[in-house]
Amino acid sequence: MFEKLQPAKLDPILSLSQLFQVDPRSEKVDLGIGVYKDDEGITPIMASVKKAEARLLAEQSSKAYVALAGTELFRDQMRNLVLGDAVLAGRVATLQTPGGTGAIRQIFETMKILNPECTIWISDPSWPSHLGMATHMGFKTRSYPYFDSETRLVDVDSMMASFQGMKSGDLLLLHGCCHNPTGANIDMDTWKAITDLTIEKGVLPFIDIAYQGFGDGLDTDAAPLRHMASRVEEMFIAASCSKNFGLYRDRVGIAMMIAKDPTMAEVAQGNLATLNRMNYSFAPDHGAAVVGMILSDTELRREWMVELEEMRMAMLTVRSKLADELRMQCNSDNFDFIAHHRGMFSRLGLNADQVLALREKHGMYVVGDSRINIAGLAGDRHLPFASAVAKVVNAA
Ligand code: LMR
Repeated sequence: MFEKLQPAKLDPILSLSQLFQVDPRSEKVDLGIGVYKDDEGITPIMASVKKAEARLLAEQSSKAYVALAGTELFRDQMRNLVLGDAVLAGRVATLQTPGGTGAIRQIFETMKILNPECTIWISDPSWPSHLGMATHMGFKTRSYPYFDSETRLVDVDSMMASFQGMKSGDLLLLHGCCHNPTGANIDMDTWKAITDLTIEKGVLPFIDIAYQGFGDGLDTDAAPLRHMASRVEEMFIAASCSKNFGLYRDRVGIAMMIAKDPTMAEVAQGNLATLNRMNYSFAPDHGAAVVGMILSDTELRREWMVELEEMRMAMLTVRSKLADELRMQCNSDNFDFIAHHRGMFSRLGLNADQVLALREKHGMYVVGDSRINIAGLAGDRHLPFASAVAKVVNAA
């Protein structure tokens, strides 16, 4: 039977990491997978996380199962962090999940129950797993134009025009902030227009927010999502703690369903918990316990917010240094947009040959669509990178 299996398609982001590992060149730079890196190129464990883990180790008295939907402390704190007071807490069902990806999966599972015939609308481009997971689960998908490769801004007109094709009951997947892979973000007026349109068309919004605090700050990054949540009757949210708590391998995320009223939210809550049981039973606890502790402890929360802000500012510094250096090295303002983008990524707009040349000739590992992880260029690594980019651009 197993001979029916076809060789697996490589994930464009993860396969790049494998190539990087085996490259013997000492000057190589990994700008692939989205993990934060400091000046030394290390992905550090945040001090607030270390402290919470130490406390957990000392205080935890049992490894018995917790609630099927996850611990209330984690879920309440995360609902607050993401939604603030935009919506009555009683209207929100929450589910602890293995990472933000686990939350996306559980939301798609919920759509399988609610409307398996729906079309899932996904930005073009998007994080590859959005489309991958939706098609793997048998959903119809449509991509909507998002990025204007000339201006390197969101192509608002084309996007809004394409949304006219959405049907009642469809699912519209939006990146809450720090769009992956482009780094170009929807402005607030457009968010308001999208909100109105989803209400008018009876479309369910689904916001994936994996980088809260990496763009313009914790509250500003959540502002579009909160606006939408305050207006619509129903909505899905997937949030990740991988990046803003640096808990990548511990797999911490949350799925949320905003329901019309608390009675519907209670039914949704039960359904979400059942989905955990049906898919993998209990979500991992360790990282969620750490997040719950940090967010509910005044001192730890303060320390975490300072650390997060330092990471955000470090990425902004890299953005402006890289834009300046590229302006000088390429003698053009073609890459100025990097300074205006937000979050962990920008898409440079290089073609496949240029991306290959960056890797093979210069040891610069950039995802195939020319997405770079900005944090990978800290510690003055933007200098060799800019000169490599200038070389491949000028060679064209
Ligand atoms: C990325 O886009 O690099 C991150 O979201 C990590 C991942 O799982 O792909």
